[in-house]
Amino acid sequence: MYQQKDYYFNKAKKEGLRARSSYKLIEIQKKYKLMKTNDNVLDIACAPGSWLQVIKKFTHGRIVGVDLESIKPIDGIEFIQGDIRDKKIQRQIGNNYQVVLSDIAPKTTGIRDKDQYLSLELSRVSFLVAKEVLQKGGNFLVKTFQSQETEELVKEIKKEFDFVKRYSPASSREGSKEIYILATGYKGKKINSKKEELSVSKEE
Ligand SMILES: C[S@@+](CC[C@H](N)C(=O)[O-])C[C@H]1O[C@@H](n2cnc3c(N)ncnc32)[C@H](O)[C@@H]1O
Repeated sequence: MYQQKDYYFNKAKKEGLRARSSYKLIEIQKKYKLMKTNDNVLDIACAPGSWLQVIKKFTHGRIVGVDLESIKPIDGIEFIQGDIRDKKIQRQIGNNYQVVLSDIAPKTTGIRDKDQYLSLELSRVSFLVAKEVLQKGGNFLVKTFQSQETEELVKEIKKEFDFVKRYSPASSREGSKEIYILATGYKGKKINSKKEELSVSKEE
């Protein structure tokens, strides 16, 4: 277990990447080509910024990152500090994205059920934001802590995208309960999607 942790930790340090999680995105991108050269990409929960560093290598389009925590600036990247559940923050994000990525994770409490519940809520908000800001045909990737309810979220996502898959990166920590749901080919915005978003959004 520690051998694997040290491997990706050291590799990231050597390659100037801000976190080991960068390798999960590199792995997924190599396999599924979620991003293309001129795509606009939204990175939800981007701190400390290692996914942003990776995204920059794959697109010349607009790149926007959002997180509760601040990040050290990265050239050419727009950063918004705030809570993704906050409607004011959602408005600042704008739209016209071809790709939405979310590596979101709650501050864990150590209570498994609670952590899974918090994770699912944040993953679901990421999905609802993606539905608002993605262009038709767009791609979406979201992390979630696996639980019995994961399947519900997968089902919801399946209704909106042509192709949906659960994926556990080889570069995730051994024993990790996280999985990624990746979805390609957004079918496009529906008239009633705004209502759904309002029901889970944090009040201003
Ligand atoms: C695993 S880290 C993301 C790592 C990032 N992908 C990278 O490679 O640098 C999870 C992030 O989710 C953020 N987060 C958790 N809840 C959030 C929320 N409600 N709104 C915005 N960001 C949130 C945390 O602040 C944390 O930085």
